[in-house]
Amino acid sequence: MSIKRPKISIIGAGNIGATAAHWAAAKELGDIVLVDVVEGVPQGKGLDLFQASPVEAFDARITGSNGYDETANSDIIVITAGLARKPGMSRDDLLAKNEEIVRQCASESAKRSPNAIIIVISNPLDAMCTVAHRASGFPKNRVIGMAGILDTARYRAFLAMELNCSVEDIQALVLGGHGDTMVPLVSYTSVSGIPIGQLIPKDRLDAIVTRTANGGAEIVGLLKTGSAFYAPSASAIQMVEAILKDKRRILPCAALLEGEYGINGIFVGVPCMLGKNGIEKIVEVSLTTEERAALNKSAASVQGLVAGLKY
Ligand code: NAI
Ligand code: 2OP
Repeated sequence: MSIKRPKISIIGAGNIGATAAHWAAAKELGDIVLVDVVEGVPQGKGLDLFQASPVEAFDARITGSNGYDETANSDIIVITAGLARKPGMSRDDLLAKNEEIVRQCASESAKRSPNAIIIVISNPLDAMCTVAHRASGFPKNRVIGMAGILDTARYRAFLAMELNCSVEDIQALVLGGHGDTMVPLVSYTSVSGIPIGQLIPKDRLDAIVTRTANGGAEIVGLLKTGSAFYAPSASAIQMVEAILKDKRRILPCAALLEGEYGINGIFVGVPCMLGKNGIEKIVEVSLTTEERAALNKSAASVQGLVAGLKY
């Protein structure tokens, strides 16, 4: 018998990387390798998390490294390496620095795990997906960006707060680039099948949509020395789980579009079916004129960033 646990490598063992490892280990999704440039940090966090396993009763080996050899033959590579946003700093300011970092992480990991699926988290997200796609040489179904699940989770959380109801009953969809131009789709928002417009007045709904679009900045403003990490890491691990268990879940993710939604050649958040091959399918939903215009505006802002990439 040769049953092997899946192997998940997480590049960048900072706030998101380490917390993603925590969620993945607790869910017993596979063995985990943490990689970071800071000596001792991935090794220390990996060992610490592994030592939690007898207490929490999960079986997963978690190791850390400052190199890539330990990541060989990974099933999934999650790239979180990069600089996080500081107060007053836009996601776009991160472009140049994170391009270099993500290029190196994607190319080093891809060389050692040619069949892996890459999930990108580093910002600016949609442009960093292009960097990882180019640097890895992987087909488009195996490079996916995490942002839509996070943005949708924030929207769902705010709606549940407003209605004082369970978050579980809120269905919603946020499309577009991961930035201030993201597009929460009010027309696809419901609570146990009840259209949201029947439950929340328009002015309150507008305020929630605005708060969602500023969701990342709200946390940055509170933390002052970093950005959100619990919800981003949980969102990434939902993608990992959907892929490793071939669940074929339909989740909003950044995908390379080639004509879908009238957009070509860039990564933008759209509903994707996630399964063992990564993106199994991009789902096209009909949009109102306003939603389509907002999606085009968001795509134009991603295009602007991609045009500014060095490679
Ligand atoms: P963090 O600063 O806590 O961790 C980043 C880690 O990357 C650090 O430990 C650093 O040493 C490491 N690193 C830097 N260069 C590296 C390299 N060349 N190779 C390997 N590791 C390297 O930051 P955090 O909070 O974990 O955020 C990570 C990234 O995720 C940031 O770019 C942030 O803006 C982004 N982010 C994306 C979200 C999304 O929805 N896609 C949401 C929130 C943050
Ligand atoms: C967030 O949305 C900063 O992109 C990061 O929390």
